Amino acid sequence: MSAKRITVVGAGHVGATCSQLLAQKELAREVILVDIAEGIPMGKALDQWESAPIEGCDTRVYGANDYSLSADSEIFIVTAGIARKPGMSRDDLLRTNAGIVRSVSEEIKRVAPDSIVIVVSNPLDVMAQVALETTGFPRERVVGMAGVLDTARYRSFIALELDVSIEDIQALVLGGHGDTMVPLASYTSVSGIPLTQLLAQDRIDALVERTRKGGGEIVGYLGTGSAYYAPAAAAVQMAEAIVKDKRRILPCAAWLQGEYGMRDLYLGVPCLLGEGGLLKVLEVELTEDEKAALTNSADHVRSTVEALKALG
Ligand code: APR
Repeated sequence: MSAKRITVVGAGHVGATCSQLLAQKELAREVILVDIAEGIPMGKALDQWESAPIEGCDTRVYGANDYSLSADSEIFIVTAGIARKPGMSRDDLLRTNAGIVRSVSEEIKRVAPDSIVIVVSNPLDVMAQVALETTGFPRERVVGMAGVLDTARYRSFIALELDVSIEDIQALVLGGHGDTMVPLASYTSVSGIPLTQLLAQDRIDALVERTRKGGGEIVGYLGTGSAYYAPAAAAVQMAEAIVKDKRRILPCAAWLQGEYGMRDLYLGVPCLLGEGGLLKVLEVELTEDEKAALTNSADHVRSTVEALKALG
């Protein structure tokens, strides 16, 4: 199963890595890479297509400075924006990226009104709301990539700590994307064994803390720009779940409509993803501490939305 056409908006670090992964996994017949930077999307797309004979994948990759090739794309992965610089919080990106995501969403609505949008641009939860409001699409067709990345980071740290395969680690991270995310220790297991039986609480706390600051750790190393391999892999995993109708349960940012006692905001929650996009938000039991952490995370997202409104 694959899509006819998937468009990746933004041919920067995250976007170009997404298009390469989409092509290598043959998740679409055509991948269109769109960016306002002259020449860049065409150059990267052509370079990727020239790797196709070596990789043995038939997905055509095209680049464009507009949306003429993107008509009727089934999925748009939106990575357009500016990346976080050292010392810059995701919220600093707010105004610039909101303007960019708004203009991109208008184009998506125009050229592919039935498409599904996966938002990657930061601050993620708020950019997803901008995309939802601008496209006017139902919540099933606008989801944000956050939890898959945060969970992957958490799992990768647990695998290192225990020196076991990443394949055996299951974890769930809720909440907003960023420092207020809520890793759920009670839903973390290693081949079914609760993590609490394998690691002391202070070690778990340290891994949780590292996960919370995972994005910043990469920014600190890179100097300029932010993480892109894992973010792109996460967005592509969501696209794969949708394109192949895998009905995967993945933590994504979803527009809550009463789930977890919250309404009208994007927050990371377990989502059933398949054909049509978001099929269901799953509600899991939380401890009082986890509930409080989720409320704190929601408050942070809401305050960022308010900040954006105040910016006009
Ligand atoms: N339309 C299309 N592309 C745009 C637009 C626009 N209106 N505005 C900016 N871009 C492009 C830039 O030209 C650039 O090529 O978006 C690209 C962003 O690429 P990078 O600067 O390399 O940023 P990247 O690391 O890919 O991160 C993109 O994802 O994870 C988030 O925080 C990150 O918001 C950031 C986004």
